Amino acid sequence: MNGTFTYSNPTRLHFGPDSLQALSDELKLYGPSVLLIYGRQSIKSSGLYDKIITILQAAGKTITEDPGVMPNPTVEKLAEGVQRARACKADLILAVGGGSVCDYAKAVSVATHCPDDAWEKYYVRMEPLDNPVIPVGCVLTMAGTGSEMNGGSVITNHATKRKIGRVFGEEVYPRFSILNPELTLTLPRYQMVAGCFDIMSHILEQYLSGDDDCTSDYIAEGLMRSLIAASRAAANDPQNYEARSNIMWTATWALNTLIAKGKSTDWMVHMIGQSVGAYTDATHGMTLAAVSLAYYRHILPYGLHRFKRFAINVWGVDPGGKNDEMTALAGLEAMKNWMQEIGLVLSLRELGTTPDMLPGIAEGTFLLRGGYKKDLSTEEVLQILNESM
Ligand code: NZQ
Ligand code: ZN
Repeated sequence: MNGTFTYSNPTRLHFGPDSLQALSDELKLYGPSVLLIYGRQSIKSSGLYDKIITILQAAGKTITEDPGVMPNPTVEKLAEGVQRARACKADLILAVGGGSVCDYAKAVSVATHCPDDAWEKYYVRMEPLDNPVIPVGCVLTMAGTGSEMNGGSVITNHATKRKIGRVFGEEVYPRFSILNPELTLTLPRYQMVAGCFDIMSHILEQYLSGDDDCTSDYIAEGLMRSLIAASRAAANDPQNYEARSNIMWTATWALNTLIAKGKSTDWMVHMIGQSVGAYTDATHGMTLAAVSLAYYRHILPYGLHRFKRFAINVWGVDPGGKNDEMTALAGLEAMKNWMQEIGLVLSLRELGTTPDMLPGIAEGTFLLRGGYKKDLSTEEVLQILNESM
């Protein structure tokens, strides 16, 4: 393990089919005004909305609703949420939905008491958080982002074509998250598999970096193997609770800072995917799926040791009779087969990306330096985008 670090995570998790029962006790810790944030329609059609309202009313809460959070939540929507949180003097923000609802709730949390333009200050200029926040609690309905146990909050500005993820500190993490895998059974297949690839990508961003083989890498391999098995089972039988529960638990541990400890991380697939999202508004996990294979083929020669290990330990590739590069490439091929098998998008065209968008997407991609190709350039990103079409 490299460096000196502190591991702490303040989010209390309630997991399982009966976990919504924990909400009443959690609510006792906060004042009477609750801002209830949710998406467009899924929590109403599933009946979850009625259950939440009943629990909030029984707890004597005053409820202000902020519905209509869209996938890839926008700055305009954020302004609306801030207005509502200020008007009701929210003591707690309850986010009921997927990663977008949870991310947006965190953005409202940090922006409500911010005297400046919070988008500019916290997302564009990435200034330290220096105003009070409103506590956030989460009832998760979609597995993928890890937002239920981290400080991540991704907001999109369509006017400037920027989708920016900010990682806040522990004060912004959900105070509690309720994870009932049954709630994910109503997800459309497209969203379910996109979530699975988001999980895979989070793990790979952390695993495919650095040269030491540390404990975090061994944990990452276990998580990937569980995800591959569970995603196959869920794709074959969408009502398989066991598979959904393993996917949900893996998603949380893939991005709650644990497997990044003691090592470097990459995150370039997310940087490219987010820029694609800013241009197309495509589903997050699918943007990652469309660019991953081209990106990984591009950087493979610089991280051959780890790509070989990935092929053998995660995909069961037999290295016999192969040189390191052949083994590593066989691993990527196995990943591609799995992606096709569960129904992921493999090209940017399928997401509505047109060739004229590519230079802007490349230009809008933040270049990070934690991956195996340390000096990756905007021209190389453009090449990867072209190969992903
Ligand atoms: O709006 P509703 O009607 O609720 O429908 C949603 C939405 O259309 C639907 N859905 C959610 N739960 C459902 C359901 N439909 C039926 N049954 C259910 N149980 O699914 C659609 C997508 O939901 P969304 O919340 O957008 O998906 P996801 O959880 O993938 O979140 C994506 C957002 O999270 C950000 C992404 O960039 C994107 O903006 N990310 C956040 C991260 C973090 N906080 O750390 C990290 C990730 O890398 C990611 O960037
Ligand atoms: Zn992601």
